[in-house]
Amino acid sequence: MRLPFLGCRDCIKRDMEILSEIVRRLLIQLPPEMAHEQALRLVGLAKSVGIPIGGKTVEKPFEIAGLKLLNPVGLAAGYDKNGEYVDALAVLGFGFIEVGTVTPRSQPGNPRPRMFRIKEKSALINRMGFNNKGVENLVHAVRGRKFTGPLGINIGKNATTAQDRAVDDYLSCLRAVYDSADYITINISSPNTVGLRNLQAASYLAPLLSSLANERTMLQGDSGRFVPIFVKVAPDCQDDEFGEMAKVISESGMDGVIATNTTVARAGVEGLLHGEEKGGLSGAPLAERAVEVVTLLRSQLPPGFPLIASGGVVSVEQALRLRAAGADAVQVYTGLVYKGPGLVADIANAW
Ligand SMILES: Cc1cc2nc3c(=O)[nH]c(=O)nc-3n(C[C@H](O)[C@H](O)[C@H](O)COP(=O)(O)O)c2cc1C
Repeated sequence: MRLPFLGCRDCIKRDMEILSEIVRRLLIQLPPEMAHEQALRLVGLAKSVGIPIGGKTVEKPFEIAGLKLLNPVGLAAGYDKNGEYVDALAVLGFGFIEVGTVTPRSQPGNPRPRMFRIKEKSALINRMGFNNKGVENLVHAVRGRKFTGPLGINIGKNATTAQDRAVDDYLSCLRAVYDSADYITINISSPNTVGLRNLQAASYLAPLLSSLANERTMLQGDSGRFVPIFVKVAPDCQDDEFGEMAKVISESGMDGVIATNTTVARAGVEGLLHGEEKGGLSGAPLAERAVEVVTLLRSQLPPGFPLIASGGVVSVEQALRLRAAGADAVQVYTGLVYKGPGLVADIANAW
């Protein structure tokens, strides 16, 4: 019998794939949020003791909005809300990593349970509600990271901040993260903070984004560094609203779009256990709508405007559909839960 971990490089790689599949199957037996917390702890532990759980990062350098992605597969926001696991997650082979959503002040999020698996559809429903330790904690956590790819920091507003003061929260987060981020994402699309998605209406969006663009000009002047800003949009707007949104985003000095966040629609999961839970649906049932939204945005945005797709990337095929629809890169979240970290390299190799 061959002893594990003592063989050739390929044997070690295979052993690690088997080990991470065993761990994934064990984790999926736990309640979803606990499994998520354990998964983060395990990647952190593996990194600190030098267990190579991921393969080598697939090298497919790609430039978008001035960012040099190591490859076009990123980690979507919400997986590492406090930015405490960047170097550990980097081992899984991401070409770029987005942390957050972070808010100015720490907040507990919604009561548990607030994350639900719909296994038969490779889907999740979550209503986490931006549980996070606050922006100062995140900035401290990501400082000194070794990850060489771009780090995005996704920012939002506290639940207790009134909608007409939302801009203050985004501005204070922008200032706090500016020196630590390679790019910044404005999250106006989570369904789990009351009223947040109202900010997508042109009457709110245009003044919000122009305040952020003005503040960025000042921060750039002070630091001598230009940090691109992306706007993350929801899939639940009417088709004709995406044209207006694309116009506002591209004309207000923003540098890119991330489409999409989770959906409040329940197509594909009706009648299933947890299918009617309140919150945002992600994973395979979101795939079709994500392709539609990316197609719509690509046709409405100026040529070459940076567009990152997120939504239902639980297979190489879905990633390639999003690329065909006009995405420059993709992010994954739910796919990691159901397919494991091997999905990252598989997509990067196929891209
Ligand atoms: C449990 C969970 C938490 C999330 N938290 C955030 C978040 O804090 N900010 C954000 O912009 N998106 C968040 N998302 C959305 C993901 O970043 C992603 O856009 C969405 O899940 C669609 O991609 P997927 O189908 O690959 O999961 C979250 C998703 C899940 C499943």
